[in-house]
Parts: sequence; C-alpha cells; structure tokens
Amino acid sequence: MLTVRVQPVRVFALAVAVLLACPRICAPARADDDARWAATAKTYNTYCAQCHGLNRNGKGINAKSMAVQPRDHSDPKGMGPIPDAEIVKAITDGGLSVNKSVLMPAWGKVLSPQQIQDLAAYIRHVCNCGSAANH
Ligand code: HEC
Repeated sequence: MLTVRVQPVRVFALAVAVLLACPRICAPARADDDARWAATAKTYNTYCAQCHGLNRNGKGINAKSMAVQPRDHSDPKGMGPIPDAEIVKAITDGGLSVNKSVLMPAWGKVLSPQQIQDLAAYIRHVCNCGSAANH
C-alpha cells in the first residue's frame, strides 16, 4: 500500500528535477537550428560527458580517477580566457597539442571538422562566456 502511495510522488519529483535541470543540461534552444544544437548536445553526451560531466562541470564519471581534472566547461572564469582557436585545436588534436594534459583525447579522427566547430560553439554557450582573445 505504501509503495502505491510513494511511487507517484517519486515520479513527480523526478519529473520536476528533470525540468529544473533542463536549461543547463538540455540542448540550448535556438530558433534557427534547434536540431543542430540538439545533435551537438548529443555528441557531447556521447564523447565528452564521461569526463566533462553530464552537467558540463568537469565532474564526469571518469574524473575521480584522473590525475588532471577535466575542464569545467560551465565555468566562465576558466573558459573565458581560452581562445576559440585553442578550443578547436584541443578538441581536434588533443590536450597535448595545446600544452595541456594528454588525458584530453584527440577527436579529429572521430568527429568531423563541422562537428568540432559546433562543439566549440556549444561549449561557449555552456560557459556563457565569449572568448576574451577573440574580441
Ligand atoms: C578521457 C577524458 C576526457 C574526455 C572523454 C574528453 N575530455 Fe576534454 N579534457 C579532459 C581533461 C583532463 C582536460 C584538462 C586538460 C588540462 O587542463 O591539462 C580537458 C580539457 C578540455 C578542454 C580545454 C582545453 C584547454 O585548452 O584548456 C576542452 C575545450 C575540452 N576538453 C573539450 C572536450 C570535448 C569537446 C570532448 C568530447 C568530444 C572532450 N573534451 C572529451 C579530459 C577529457
């Protein structure tokens, strides 16, 4: 009897939690190309979230065991100073190519240049910061 009462409350609480978290986690809404942003968010979830976190805060499932912590993509202070070109290079050729940790893998053979450009733009959206070096 108790479970019958508790269960809908749990389902409701979960639904509320998902709704509250959505603006941060879900694909950012953009009237012009919603589908592309959604696809990019999905790419991030597939290839990046295990280290950078589903919340984009650097606390992915792998992070605990890593000697160098994945970058917190939601942090405007940390992300702001990184030029767009470095973000693209880091994603394409890996952390070492921009004098960062080898633990940041290279994605240039997995993702297309367009997907990487989209990810770079998406990361800027996530940190809510422009690149100081590009203004
Ligand atoms: C195996 C874990 C791992 C995965 C998977 C991963 N990263 Fe990283 N990433 C890291 C680590 C660790 C750093 C921090 C490197 C440092 O500060 O030395 C990093 C840093 C970065 C940076 C900052 C680079 C800079 O110049 O400071 C960007 C941008 C980035 N990652 C994007 C991505 C994207 C996009 C993906 C998915 C396509 C991804 N990462 C997947 C571990 C990972």
